[in-house]
Amino acid sequence: MRSITVNTSKTYNVHVGGGLLSFAGERVTETCGGETVMLVTDDIVESLYAEDVEQSLRAAGYTTVRFVFPNGEQSKTTETYVSLLNAMTRANLSRSDVVIALGGGVTGDLAGFAAATYLRGVKLVQIPTTVLAMVDSSVGGKTAVNLTAGKNQAGAFYQPDVVLCDYDTLRTLPQEIFIDGCAEIIKHGVIQSAELFELLEKPLEPRMEDIIARNIEIKRDIVEKDERDTGIRQLLNFGHTIGHGIEKHSGYSISHGKAVAIGMAITCRAAWRAGKCDKSCYTELVGTLKRFGLPYTTEIPAESLIEAAYLDKKRSGQVITEVLPERIGNCVLHNFSLDELEAFIKLGMEDTDNRT
Ligand SMILES: NC(=O)c1ccc[n+]([C@@H]2O[C@H](COP(=O)([O-])OP(=O)(O)OC[C@H]3O[C@@H](n4cnc5c(N)ncnc54)[C@H](O)[C@@H]3O)[C@@H](O)[C@H]2O)c1
Repeated sequence: MRSITVNTSKTYNVHVGGGLLSFAGERVTETCGGETVMLVTDDIVESLYAEDVEQSLRAAGYTTVRFVFPNGEQSKTTETYVSLLNAMTRANLSRSDVVIALGGGVTGDLAGFAAATYLRGVKLVQIPTTVLAMVDSSVGGKTAVNLTAGKNQAGAFYQPDVVLCDYDTLRTLPQEIFIDGCAEIIKHGVIQSAELFELLEKPLEPRMEDIIARNIEIKRDIVEKDERDTGIRQLLNFGHTIGHGIEKHSGYSISHGKAVAIGMAITCRAAWRAGKCDKSCYTELVGTLKRFGLPYTTEIPAESLIEAAYLDKKRSGQVITEVLPERIGNCVLHNFSLDELEAFIKLGMEDTDNRT
């Protein structure tokens, strides 16, 4: 097992290992205390892992209550959030009690936001069960639900008390969803670590503990410097401005990881064409995306993506900050006016591969 300490407004440990679910009770009592646990999970993860986690919690002396919602992004709504708050009230959850998010990024974001706001904040444990949630969403404290107007439009920064990444749970993950999370691993390689990017040339499964831990360290190092996302943390948004536009335009039928993969490829292609990085940066990125079976182009018109960028949370007045690769392992932040961003996105989407 590997343990990584995150020093933010709250200091907490992220444990990475096999078989950790069976020790959830011990880990939760030692970090959170309390008497009652509200276990938040979706219907698929419930059928696979809720009983194991609850057994361990009961053995540690907790009373457990379950809140289960239909799996998928369409559940990350204010309606589900309010139902969860009502369930917490019915369970008489007090400030010293605990919310556990058991599942993927949707569960983590939803349960995290409820934990942040119920009684102005209760204890929170993240038990991520997807690659994306392990390497990205469970660490760093961003929580949110979607509004009709856009993704993650209502949320809070709220750090967990402990994170348990049991990579044995990834064995039941459908290949498609496994691959989806790999887009965030590729992102970490491009923005911060050429060494991690190189590791992606070989199969990940035999080295899951190392790969997950390395990704968490990369995210930790960035979040510790900029917890509230006003500066360097924006590097983690590489590919996300366009990615969010793709998700929204597709009515969320294109998953987060695939949308980010396309967003990274378009951004990198535009950066190369604008002379900000070498062509090799783009070709290496696309080579890796292809190897993972991730997409790198879209039929969605540039105008729709630009419209979504206008609604993006990262916009400040008429300026939007984009993450541009300089080379694999190093990215920089660049401020665009909305007109400049439009030209930039079009540069990344125009089919002018032969014009170099
Ligand atoms: N808070 C953050 O910092 C942050 C960062 C990145 C993404 N996100 C958010 O994360 C969400 C996407 O997360 P996700 O891709 O994990 O989606 P998800 O939570 O919907 O999980 C994907 C699917 O996998 C199933 N599943 C989960 N674990 C399983 C397992 N071990 N075995 C079998 N099936 C399993 C779920 O039931 C679901 O159907 C988006 O809402 C995105 O906005 C948040």
